[in-house]
Amino acid sequence: MAKYISFCLFTLLILTGYYFYQYNEAAKTQLLSYDDEQEKIETSITIRFSHVVAENTPKGLTVRKFADLVEEKTKGQVKVEIYPNGILYSDDNEYEALQNGKVEMIAASFPKLIDTVPQWKVLDLPFIFKRESQAEAVFTGQTSKELLSMIQDPQVKGLGFWVNGFKQMTSSQNALLEPDDFRGQTFRVMPGPIIAEQFRLLKADTAVMPFNDVYQALESGQIDGQENTISNIYSKRLYKVQRHLTISNHGYLGYAVMINQEFWDELPKEIQEKITEAMNETTEWNMKKAGQMNAEQLEAIKRTSPITIHSLKAEQQKKWLRLFNPLYQQVENEVGSDLIKRIQFPPDEER
Ligand code: LMR
Repeated sequence: MAKYISFCLFTLLILTGYYFYQYNEAAKTQLLSYDDEQEKIETSITIRFSHVVAENTPKGLTVRKFADLVEEKTKGQVKVEIYPNGILYSDDNEYEALQNGKVEMIAASFPKLIDTVPQWKVLDLPFIFKRESQAEAVFTGQTSKELLSMIQDPQVKGLGFWVNGFKQMTSSQNALLEPDDFRGQTFRVMPGPIIAEQFRLLKADTAVMPFNDVYQALESGQIDGQENTISNIYSKRLYKVQRHLTISNHGYLGYAVMINQEFWDELPKEIQEKITEAMNETTEWNMKKAGQMNAEQLEAIKRTSPITIHSLKAEQQKKWLRLFNPLYQQVENEVGSDLIKRIQFPPDEER
């Protein structure tokens, strides 16, 4: 009997020990996964990315691509919240919002950054870009590093460049082919001295206004015309309130992608590396996508709109260029002929 009782007690002891062991293991697992989750919550990072254009544009889609890549590469640790169409900040105040850390990233077009980087005037010179391959080389090759190093603002870090494409001219009055065709009309311009001077040389007036006010200003007749890329003209329906569109390819619209410096400095090194990787992949994607979108949307305008489309002929382009000579002279005096040449003939362009 005593043997039987001690056998039962022994078995009970073993079972109790086993039970507590299992319980302990389960508790540990639970604790671990709980900690893991907690860690994730504590280290999750949000980048607020503000921009002024529509989502179905080269910039809108490129920001979306960047957001997806960042989230994928950081396994959800970094989330990119996108604020398009100037819903958070517009042309006038997005740079300041970036400086003050009210948003973490923007991709502003060059003319809006000339106060910050005066040398970038060169990028607004009419006809300085002649080929897409040239723009791609400037904004991804050696010259892009040089351009980024010109940002002197301690609150802002330049991550790279994205492109939209060539700008075209539109008017509600007449075809814009000869320099004289511009005389007396008022054009909406992005800020910056070069574009204003370009129209002054064409004997036209200018009005600086945020991108998202342009449709209204054209529709009401406050201004006669404007210049922009096809994708911006298409996505904001500007072609619906204009009678003439000239494929002039006279200017180039690109973006500097910038991040708040303090925010960047506080990111763990591995996260900085993942963001840089995402940026590089996105840039490659953007360079292919932008040209394709502008071409497709030009076809869509042709198909659906009564607007008259003209093409600037070589001899007309020569006349515009002759007129813009003083502008080249002025920029050369300010930034030097070397930079102008490197933009015109980037050393790493594959021709
Ligand atoms: C504009 O103001 O027309 C452009 O800068 C808009 C943009 O960002 O593409």
